[in-house]
Amino acid sequence: MTSIVLYCRPGFEKECGAEIQEKAAWNEMYGYLELKKNQGLVFFHLHDDSHGEILMGKLPLKRLIFARQWFVTLTDKIDLPDYNRVEAIVDALGNDWQYDELRMETADTNDGKALSKFCRKLAVPLRQGLRKVNVLTDKQKAVNNQPEGSILHALFLSGQEVILGFSLARNSSKHVMGIPRLKFPSQAPSRSTLKLDEAFLHFIPKDEWETRLTSGMNAVDLGSAPGGWTYQLVRRGMMVTAIDNGPMAESLMETGQVKHKMMDGFKYVPMKQNVHWLVCDMIEKPQRVAKLMAEWLLNGYCKEAMFNLKLPMKGRYQQVTEDIQRIKDAFSENNVKYELYAKHLYYDREEITVHARLLSPVPQR
Ligand SMILES: C[S@@+](CC[C@H](N)C(=O)[O-])C[C@H]1O[C@@H](n2cnc3c(N)ncnc32)[C@H](O)[C@@H]1O
Repeated sequence: MTSIVLYCRPGFEKECGAEIQEKAAWNEMYGYLELKKNQGLVFFHLHDDSHGEILMGKLPLKRLIFARQWFVTLTDKIDLPDYNRVEAIVDALGNDWQYDELRMETADTNDGKALSKFCRKLAVPLRQGLRKVNVLTDKQKAVNNQPEGSILHALFLSGQEVILGFSLARNSSKHVMGIPRLKFPSQAPSRSTLKLDEAFLHFIPKDEWETRLTSGMNAVDLGSAPGGWTYQLVRRGMMVTAIDNGPMAESLMETGQVKHKMMDGFKYVPMKQNVHWLVCDMIEKPQRVAKLMAEWLLNGYCKEAMFNLKLPMKGRYQQVTEDIQRIKDAFSENNVKYELYAKHLYYDREEITVHARLLSPVPQR
């Protein structure tokens, strides 16, 4: 049986499962779910074996909100012997296909972390074994700066059990298990800073940073205190208007790049239309935030918006899709072309991050 294995934040397996099942059904592909509760793993078992590869080819991973990474299974669960594990894996794989990279993976849990030491040790002889039979090339290919070729995934459920699978490099996360390891900058005033750092890395291609994330730009940060997000804008050389009734870190104010206004983020309107970035991390009802973000973009108050939508306790998938649909409807009603992606990022908790920008001007009303 072929399955798609998806990695998500532990505790969000239901949302991740509902999403892949819905998007697969849109493509007329069906299957049933097996959720590994609180392990951040979802198995979508497909009724038709050929659908795994087809779906991975058709459905962009960036369209999935809750999945960090995914692969299509090549084997069922393999029971590994205590010795000659490499041989067992190489034999199970056969040599019909070639892969450009090997990823050793586990669940994103404490047990998984303990297992990752074992994986690191096994990775060296396993790579050698796979290269020897010409199954692994270790030569990552790229066409027009886009990665090409396939990645081999080895998901270790324990030291004795592994599932093998593959993903297409052009349609999978470049990070192992979809987790970027970011370093907390010691000068940043809050850990939230990592959320915006990851969001920029995830949503904005690096080769566009020079024009879209650069020094001298104006930015507005709604719900800015104590300044973790503002810190990310300041360190990129931007001038920031920070809106929050709470205090901002002195170190940020001393840079001379930050103007702090103690007021309601829903009432602030910029004086000039020279703001490139609007970022928003207000703890507020997601419906209200979604409406505000659409208004900022449609009124031309900013060029791009990066914001969090807080997730409710129950019905999280349903709620999030409704909030996002509301923003898309507002854009469509105004006949504008737009780009909008949402992701439950690694540094997000009970929230998702959304990036939106208009790709065409708003027609005169
Ligand atoms: C999660 S914290 C923001 C953390 C900030 N992004 C950072 O990195 O340091 C949420 C902030 O939103 C602010 N907030 C909530 N509702 C607001 C509103 N209506 N207007 C302005 N700020 C608001 C709160 O005062 C709080 O400081």
